[in-house]
Amino acid sequence: MSTARTLLLAGNWKMNLDHLEAISTVQKLAWALRDAKVDLTAVDVVVLPPFTDIRSVQTLVQGDKLWLRYGAQDVSRHEPGAHTGEIAATFLSRLGCTYVVVGHSERRADNHETNDVVAAKVKAALGHDLVPILCVGESLDQREDGTHVEFTLAQLEESLAGLSAEDLTGLVIAYEPVWAIGTGKTATAEDAAEMAAAIRGWLREIYGDSLAESTRILYGGSVKTDNVADILVSDDVDGALVGGASLSGPDFAALCKAAVGQ
Ligand code: 13P
Repeated sequence: MSTARTLLLAGNWKMNLDHLEAISTVQKLAWALRDAKVDLTAVDVVVLPPFTDIRSVQTLVQGDKLWLRYGAQDVSRHEPGAHTGEIAATFLSRLGCTYVVVGHSERRADNHETNDVVAAKVKAALGHDLVPILCVGESLDQREDGTHVEFTLAQLEESLAGLSAEDLTGLVIAYEPVWAIGTGKTATAEDAAEMAAAIRGWLREIYGDSLAESTRILYGGSVKTDNVADILVSDDVDGALVGGASLSGPDFAALCKAAVGQ
């Protein structure tokens, strides 16, 4: 389904929707995408449900041959073994997951995930053929004191420590300014473009042209049907990581339709 830098619209459900709700949400999403005639060869539409929903989503997607991908919101940095409560990357691969979110700001805040831990999770995901969606982004203080680019690039560098350009083929980076998540405050299209360009420039400097040109950079933070097209105007912004607006199938389908400009 994907070629390099195919538009990516990923719905991060966070801790919402149980496995029964997941089934009906994915069904409604698939129907609404079909009814809206969204060209699914031009866009990767992805759902990222809670772990307990993934088996149900897999059964539906495979059984009904839906043109959707799915993934998880986190992954263990460990291989299978004595790590109570953790979910190994290999388990997610075996459930047909394509993507996994790593280093979301809510996990960094709620679970004290450091950049070192995030880097280990990126490595674990890549080691099991999962595409990490690595989240980075500044707080309001950093935005207000003008250190947002410096902070975000440092976070990115530390979250990719020890990984080579070859290791990182297929990586997705999501720029999610913490102050714009779930607040209704969206970064402007210019803010998103500025950071995406800075991230791509940094990738070019550190890893070379090939990785810089092939890496998809998403924006996340209060993305909705009525602002997604603006956010995607920049050539450096390759998609969106969507929270609240992905929880209803029809709403997420409408957002996808607006994003592909149909
Ligand atoms: P909202 O779209 O609800 O602001 O969430 C953004 C987000 O954190 C996606 O990962």
